[in-house]
Amino acid sequence: MTGVGIDAVEIRTGKLKLDLAETFAPAKGEEPGKYTKGLGLHASSFPDEFEDIVTMGANAAHQLMERKGLEPADIGRIDVATESAFDNSKPVSTYIAGCLEQVFDGDFHHANKGERKFACIAGTQSLDDAYNWIRAGRNRGRSALVVCTDTALYARGDPGEATQGAGAVAMLISEDPDLVELSTEQGYGSADETDFLKPNQQFPSVDGKRSVQVYLARMREAVEDFESVAGTIHPDDFELLPFHTPFPGMVRKAAALAYRHMIRDTEIEETLAEDIGRQPRPEAFDTEEAYLDAMGEYTDQLVETEQYTEWYDRAVDPTLDISREVGNWYTGSVHVARVSGLKHALEAGLDLTGKRLGVASYGSGAQAEVHAETVQPGWEAEIAQLDIEEQMADRYELSFEEYERVHDIHNHDKETEADPLTTPEGEFVFDGWGRMGERKYRYVE
Ligand code: HMG
Repeated sequence: MTGVGIDAVEIRTGKLKLDLAETFAPAKGEEPGKYTKGLGLHASSFPDEFEDIVTMGANAAHQLMERKGLEPADIGRIDVATESAFDNSKPVSTYIAGCLEQVFDGDFHHANKGERKFACIAGTQSLDDAYNWIRAGRNRGRSALVVCTDTALYARGDPGEATQGAGAVAMLISEDPDLVELSTEQGYGSADETDFLKPNQQFPSVDGKRSVQVYLARMREAVEDFESVAGTIHPDDFELLPFHTPFPGMVRKAAALAYRHMIRDTEIEETLAEDIGRQPRPEAFDTEEAYLDAMGEYTDQLVETEQYTEWYDRAVDPTLDISREVGNWYTGSVHVARVSGLKHALEAGLDLTGKRLGVASYGSGAQAEVHAETVQPGWEAEIAQLDIEEQMADRYELSFEEYERVHDIHNHDKETEADPLTTPEGEFVFDGWGRMGERKYRYVE
């Protein structure tokens, strides 16, 4: 069988922008540096009054299908990954299919539709489901559509408010893909955790500081599990390392630990030993605390080395370009990171065909997954057609008062009427409520 993977991708950002340093930080009485330097975020995307997870997902899928010249009959499966769903029974994929049927001839009556939930890792799990379905030979020559769509809003005043975002990523999973081929090498780190959850509530209950530790702990387990199938990994193995990016500062922490792990017992550790010593080994310490303190000190020195900086600037930093400007998109976030890294490589004129990516996904609750992908010959053409830069530049910039109103509009517990701040054109919009409480949508030319 030929390879299976991501054949095409489209990204759709919410149409509003909140500048964190200029607008949000002053209103909160905080230093802009907390956002731009500490969290590594410049701005967040928000949905306009007529946007939600269905419109953003359907608009991304519409753009993808049109560009690839697809009809509904070419799609055998539609999976939506989201943690912002508004219905406990009817999946978002049915709404998105309904939207697409307004603009395409034919229908999706023979496509298997579903919704995946495991916090932010559900998008990667949907890729897996699509991959397995095709590899099992059950797809009848058809492709799968995976849509990751979220409005990542936190309660007003929650520390997570700094990391909000809204957007969708649509991906086409096919045989002989143009973008990346997925490998069978995977590793998991999974445990029953209560770091971030939404027990039948719209905004998350978050233990922010703990969530950072849980992300790192599960990621470490996933790396170890990955190595048990793929062998020991080295910093040169992967051209890019797209991580789940709730905010770039989180990835900065994860990348330091990953690099430290990868260089252990390698020539890099030996070379660095002249300047910063070898990595502390647990057997040399009387207590776990003393060992962890020494590891912390070693890591602080490690990230200042030329070797680390060169690796980070090549393999990790390029994956954060888009995230810095749009915030956390939950399920879409790691897939935005992949696109961001590939876009950076295209602009730098790098030839990535045949090169490997190490993709590190994470979902609170909690589970991390690490898998390998190989970049395919069609990647440049696929990435070159993206218009995410234009979309980001076209966003309407919110004042703090407008931000407060927009947050209220999307708060399910409030009834806030307000005019949209942008004018829809060539896209699906929310069109009010139906008689059974369903949300309705229409296409605006
Ligand atoms: P906080 O307490 O407001 O921020 O919340 P802080 O005081 O810890 O500051 C953040 C960083 O900025 C710190 O850096 C500060 O030192 C630095 P660090 O020490 O961590 O390296 N800082 C500054 N730097 C330069 N100049 C300054 C300055 N001031 C401060 N002037 C927190 C931060 C992440 C806890 C909060 O935003 C939060 O709760 N976020 C939501 C949870 C989250 O994103 N967790 C991430 C891991 S869990 C995950 O990724 C899953 C998730 O996507 C959900 C899902 O899976 O579904 C969230």
